[in-house]
Amino acid sequence: MISALEIRPIIDGSYLTDSGSLILFFRIYLNLSETYLRYPDDVYDRQWNAYFQTEWTQKSTSSDVDNSNKYETPKAALKTAATPSNTSAPLTIDWTTENSDDDEYYLYTHFAEIEALKANETREFNMLWNGNHYYGPLVPTKLVINTIQSRSPETCKDGKCIFQLIRTNISTLPPLLNAIELFKVIQFPQSETDENEVVAIKNIEATYGLSRINWQGDPCVPLDFKWDGLNCSNSGTSTPPRITSLNLSSSGLTGNIAAAIQNLTQLEKLDLSNNNLTGEVPEFLGNMKSLWVLNLSGNDLNGSIPRSLQRKGLELHLQGNPRLFPSGSPTKPTGKSFPVIIVASVGSAAILIVVLVLVIFLRKKKPSIVEAVHPPPSRPTMNVTNTNSPEPSIEMKKRRFTYVEVMKMTNNFERVVGEGGFGVVCHGTVNGSEQVAVKLLSQSSTQGYKEFKAEVDLLLRVHHTNLVSLVGYCDEKDHLALIYEFVPNGDLRQHLLGKGGKLIVNWGTRLRIAVEAALGLEYLHIGCTPPMVHRDVKTTNILLDEHYKAKLADFGLSRSFPVGGETHVSTVIAGTPGYLDPEYYQTSRLGEKSDVYSFGIVLLEMITNQPVIDRNRRKAHITQWVGSELNGGDIAKIMDPKLSGDYDSRSAWRALELAMSCADPTSARRPTMSHVVIELKECLVSENSRRNMSRGMESLDSPEVSMIFDNEMIPRAR
Ligand SMILES: *[C@@H]1O[C@H](CO)[C@@H](O)[C@H](O)[C@H]1NC(C)=O
Ligand SMILES: *[C@@H]1O[C@H](CO)[C@@H](O)[C@H](O)[C@H]1NC(C)=O
Ligand SMILES: *[C@@H]1O[C@H](CO)[C@@H](O)[C@H](O)[C@H]1NC(C)=O
Ligand SMILES: *[C@@H]1O[C@H](CO)[C@@H](O)[C@H](O)[C@H]1NC(C)=O
Ligand SMILES: *[C@@H]1O[C@H](CO)[C@@H](O)[C@H](O)[C@H]1NC(C)=O
Repeated sequence: MISALEIRPIIDGSYLTDSGSLILFFRIYLNLSETYLRYPDDVYDRQWNAYFQTEWTQKSTSSDVDNSNKYETPKAALKTAATPSNTSAPLTIDWTTENSDDDEYYLYTHFAEIEALKANETREFNMLWNGNHYYGPLVPTKLVINTIQSRSPETCKDGKCIFQLIRTNISTLPPLLNAIELFKVIQFPQSETDENEVVAIKNIEATYGLSRINWQGDPCVPLDFKWDGLNCSNSGTSTPPRITSLNLSSSGLTGNIAAAIQNLTQLEKLDLSNNNLTGEVPEFLGNMKSLWVLNLSGNDLNGSIPRSLQRKGLELHLQGNPRLFPSGSPTKPTGKSFPVIIVASVGSAAILIVVLVLVIFLRKKKPSIVEAVHPPPSRPTMNVTNTNSPEPSIEMKKRRFTYVEVMKMTNNFERVVGEGGFGVVCHGTVNGSEQVAVKLLSQSSTQGYKEFKAEVDLLLRVHHTNLVSLVGYCDEKDHLALIYEFVPNGDLRQHLLGKGGKLIVNWGTRLRIAVEAALGLEYLHIGCTPPMVHRDVKTTNILLDEHYKAKLADFGLSRSFPVGGETHVSTVIAGTPGYLDPEYYQTSRLGEKSDVYSFGIVLLEMITNQPVIDRNRRKAHITQWVGSELNGGDIAKIMDPKLSGDYDSRSAWRALELAMSCADPTSARRPTMSHVVIELKECLVSENSRRNMSRGMESLDSPEVSMIFDNEMIPRAR
């Protein structure tokens, strides 16, 4: 744990080693007291301990001592000094180390003459390390610091170290010492980067005025703190790492290619691309034996390319230097004779051709403008295929049918199965067995042929098990028809009203149909690119196949076709009254949240089985009616009486709340369809577990119901 950390910078280069790092062994100032000095006496906050020996005499001064060198030894430490009491004896400091003789030391001794010397007095002495001459003779300067530092590390013999100051013969005074620092060298397992390379890279750094925050310390070690843009050869303990790649791409370099680069003799890759380098390409680059990738592209180099660069095994990138000429032709810009540039242009030409082919191909395939703007919708991310479903068997090729084919498949429009806002819907058969519904569009209803084609192209690409798929179309002259997959069991409205004995009395079935319809809608909103808005979600547009699986119909076309099963609808307004997003009246825009609103109305219908709009009711619109009934708090009064109370009231409440939030007048407060799907699934699970519990007691379920409760039918989460 660290509570606080203070870091103080010192002058670069004040404590140096040849290798390894320094660890403090001792730092003392010679003073009889037992105090230590630190900040503010020491501007760098080093700690100086007082140290004295009995055979010494203390000297001190009250005068100011000039301490201005790069060590800035505290003035307080320089104001006192020790001299040997026996004026002819040496001043000795010795210590022993337990470790081996390999210990290396760096010594920093600080002197200042603090005695007032008489004219006939001199102080002069030599410094000895282990008895050998180390430095001198030295005459301390009056009241000015004088620091003697080791140039190379010193070692000791047999763990015994002796440092001595011995007066010279001409000296009239004993030696004197004010302060001393001793550092031991510690080595690191990785050896440091080759010294010449460090010099070279620092030279490069200085040449280009780079100031990268990470370019500190050794360029290659430790590995984790390697300089950015460098790669180094493997560093062991014995072999110093070498720089093998230098990447100064996009570094804003200006001027010439730095000569110091040639001193990175093991360089394999050099990337100086995308800078503003000028001048000629230097010859030496070609002579760098290890270099095999050289990227000088995107600069402003000029002159001719040296012949030396055209050696085997050197991968050259020189494109984007308009003023660079191939060697031997000083006037012609780079071109044919330079192989790398050919490779580059061949590469881009190939890409260009591929792009052109693609563009032409796509154009041919899809002439419509809309298609070019909107990419085709993606395939469903979900796989809700059901083995019982007829869908896989309709492996019909989506295509354009002729009017004759349409007449043939419907047997001359023999069986009319419905009539909508678009026109008549006929039953038909394709390939002898596959049933289709053919929607004949009255010519007057189309707003434009182009839009029709564009939308059909789009719809042909939408596939989801809960969406009625478009099988094909016909657009021969005046005859426009859409051919859909045939969904045999009618629409949800019929089933809610009980038309033709098709009453769905089962709450679980209703929930499952709601989930499936919601999944289809969710797919239009988020599974398609671009997202599609159904624009006309209502119970009559939710069709049921022979297994009562819900399929949404009539999506997407409303942009080019006016919608409306209800006759009194003005064609200007899209959607169906009662289901239409109230915000549409202000914005005239229908978005995904408009579908959510309509879906909320559908849900309310499925829950209550009330008409969406009933002028005879106290509250005409279904949301108003449910809203007012909700105040009573009695769910039984809201739920469809035909359900006979056979439902899980928790899931009923939840579905009701969900429906009301979908039908919120403010679109921002409505949930997304994905959220609706999740909520409905949970309602379904809750209802199913209730039924499973009671199933043992009563087996009154109709065949339809038991089939529907096959677990395989429950949509799985994505
Ligand atoms: C003083 O030092 C000198 C030289 O080391 C020595 O010969 C002498 O005996 C010493 N004097 C005393 C009193 O210790
Ligand atoms: C230095 O000169 C002073 C007189 O100014 C004298 O007393 C002293 O003995 C001399 N010292 C030496 C070492 O000659
Ligand atoms: C140099 O670095 C740039 C990104 O900073 C990278 O795109 C390029 O490939 C590198 N060059 C080499 C030779 O690795
Ligand atoms: C390359 O290194 C050598 C030896 O260290 C040095 O003398 C020379 O000046 C360097 N060259 C450049 C261009 O830095
Ligand atoms: C050379 O530089 C260009 C531009 O930065 C880059 O696209 C290319 O990948 C580089 N080539 C190499 C080998 O690094």
